[in-house]
Amino acid sequence: MENTFYKGSAYINGKFVDSEKTIPVISTIDGSTIGSVAALSKKDIDMAFEGAHLAFNLWRNLTPEMRIKKIKEFAEYFIAEKEFLATLMSYEIGKSYNDALKEVERSYENIFETIEVYEKEFVNPSVIGPEVNKIKGKTGYFYNVPVGVVLAIAPFNYPINLGLAKIIPTLLVGNTIVFKPATQGSLVSSQLAKYFDQANFIAGVFNLVTGKGSEIGDYILENKRIQGATFTGSSDIGFKLASKLPMKPLVLELGGKDAAIVTNNADVELAAKEIIKGAFGYSGQRCTAIKRVLVTKEIADDLLIHLIKEAQKLKVGNPLNNPDITPLIDRKAVDFNIDLIDDAINHGANLVYGGNIEGYNLLRHTILDNVSTKSKLAWEEPFGPVLPIIRVSTINEAIAIANASEYGLQGSVFTKDLEEARTIAKYLDTGTVNINRGSSRGPDIFPFIGIKKSGFGVQGIRDSLKAMTRVKGIVENE
Ligand code: NAP
Ligand code: G3P
Repeated sequence: MENTFYKGSAYINGKFVDSEKTIPVISTIDGSTIGSVAALSKKDIDMAFEGAHLAFNLWRNLTPEMRIKKIKEFAEYFIAEKEFLATLMSYEIGKSYNDALKEVERSYENIFETIEVYEKEFVNPSVIGPEVNKIKGKTGYFYNVPVGVVLAIAPFNYPINLGLAKIIPTLLVGNTIVFKPATQGSLVSSQLAKYFDQANFIAGVFNLVTGKGSEIGDYILENKRIQGATFTGSSDIGFKLASKLPMKPLVLELGGKDAAIVTNNADVELAAKEIIKGAFGYSGQRCTAIKRVLVTKEIADDLLIHLIKEAQKLKVGNPLNNPDITPLIDRKAVDFNIDLIDDAINHGANLVYGGNIEGYNLLRHTILDNVSTKSKLAWEEPFGPVLPIIRVSTINEAIAIANASEYGLQGSVFTKDLEEARTIAKYLDTGTVNINRGSSRGPDIFPFIGIKKSGFGVQGIRDSLKAMTRVKGIVENE
């Protein structure tokens, strides 16, 4: 891997495509250039959508068994290179090697779970389609059919998992796809194109377009061939996408500001362990990271002691050595987190752990106590290893602060009293509430929901299959 230069080609209509203009890919480990990604022209983008459009009829008219067979072939080429993919991910996005490997393995398992649900619930006519309705001399057959050409856009933090969680269900139900990965994440994503190519898919069924979102994104969103879109990333870009694609099926998985509420009845040791794991896994670069702690004043000191004890156990360093805390995606992310820390301190917070930069883009995991609700850190998503503790007088105050967020992805409640947990869970305005555990997307068969600024539509193995279909009726008259 060392000294290897990776070329991230695009993949359009069954052919790898390079461009004159390229974007350098900088290693998160040490800032060296590890490769380059094609910066596609508008013409290339048009070709990708045309290819997807032309392939749609061929692909959707294959039998489900034929589509499943192709996807299984893809899966085997993909998993055969799992160690290589994990290493590349460590260099490109700074994920620890073991976590990157887990991401690849999880994605492989998801492919088969998705196929299983598709076979059981979407192919069998007695369950979904045709549903036969006989009334007033009419017989109606209602089918789930693919929507057509789907645009899928993924973020940098789970390039494989979030990429395939969109691509596989979209293709299985008969759509074709134009996939735009994050620029930092394009090297590993361009490998996916290689496996589709090896599995000999019909040209145009899967297309990979690369280039900076800020330069080519608006042009992509304007393409008239797009019939549906599935996006994961920041709320700002998600809103932009929604405004450009009115009246189309959309799934948006956006930002979060997940709160962990710790009550007087909590097992404080367990809460501290879960909060540290939840806040600092992949250095906080998870939508489902715990991004604030709301704790009652009576137990805040005790919780803090345990949080610091757990924080001290975390290892910091090079992703290839499997530490807990790794370099952030880029310098801009480090600067953004430092600004949030400074602002919190200026509003009276106490820096109780971390706060310092240790090497290339590596911000030590940081805990701030007594964070004021006037500071930016109380409301903004750091997408880095910075955890604010907000002390509250009552649980009602905790719920009110949790719900005052613009985001509504997930939340956690820590208490040994299950009735108390259920009551708090009922009042939290989020997609999901986790009792005595940190937030989590998985198990992937569960619906994954974001409300308010955190999303639109539902993801998850079953829901993603449904998301890119529409209902079509044929009515026979007596
Ligand atoms: P981002 O900056 O919004 O980028 C996401 C994707 O959008 C990238 O592929 C990006 O390409 C592309 N993009 C940027 N500008 C665009 C435009 N004008 N038109 C079309 N596409 C455009 O997000 P990120 O920094 O990669 O990821 C972090 C964010 O994702 C956080 O807010 C996090 O909470 C959220 N996230 C949410 C979930 C969830 O399930 N709810 C999961 C993971 C992450 P470039 O890379 O080329 O800019
Ligand atoms: O931020 C990406 C999201 O999918 C997180 O997944 O499993 O780490 O909660 P997970």
